[in-house]
Amino acid sequence: MPTTQAVQLPESSLSGPVSLEEALAQRRSIRGFSDHQVTLAEIGQLLWAAQGITEPRRGLRTAPSAGATYPLEIVVIVGRAEGLAPGVYRYAPGRHALTPLLQDDQRQSLTRAALNQSALLQAPVTFAVTAVHARTESRYGQRATRYVDMETGHAAQNLSLQAVALGLGSVVIGAFDDQDVAALLDLPPGEAPLYLIPVGRPR
Ligand SMILES: Cc1cc2nc3c(=O)[nH]c(=O)nc-3n(C[C@H](O)[C@H](O)[C@H](O)COP(=O)(O)O)c2cc1C
Repeated sequence: MPTTQAVQLPESSLSGPVSLEEALAQRRSIRGFSDHQVTLAEIGQLLWAAQGITEPRRGLRTAPSAGATYPLEIVVIVGRAEGLAPGVYRYAPGRHALTPLLQDDQRQSLTRAALNQSALLQAPVTFAVTAVHARTESRYGQRATRYVDMETGHAAQNLSLQAVALGLGSVVIGAFDDQDVAALLDLPPGEAPLYLIPVGRPR
């Protein structure tokens, strides 16, 4: 039976040993990863950096959003993680929890859908930034396309810098087959994948 129970993520940390300046200076695209598992706490911290709620009263997040329309979603493809079964999960920022979408290690199919880029096969976990453009289009019309792309950059950079601060590496991947990735992740109509970000311990 597929598990449908949400996975609560550990509370995110607001301090760490690496300064923002050090993280900026050290960030480099990493495409080769060791066999080390990532932990549930690391996954939670990376998700918080990308889209975590920092002002619960108004639901505001770590990354800015045009008119606070929040079109972005984060889908997590888990291969090897301590405390989390292989599979595909969706981040629920309001609960800081993961909702299971699919079971089993999907990294081979994900790699195939992205021009066989080996970073996706090696990385213990990949974060897909996806967007529901309609949320932002309802307020901004055609300009939403630009706003959603900008927001994706904000979220991805937050995640990339948090990875450095955790002693992890990442690369942002924009080259993939949109339809194949959407089908693999079982995205509902109207939700598009924009970035794949494999993360792991640098090899
Ligand atoms: C929009 C965008 C798309 C990218 N797509 C890919 C990709 O598909 N595969 C990949 O290995 N790197 C990808 N990159 C990473 C760049 O190759 C990388 O940032 C660049 O070589 C500079 O190196 P640095 O990130 O270490 O500073 C992408 C970067 C951006 C900004």
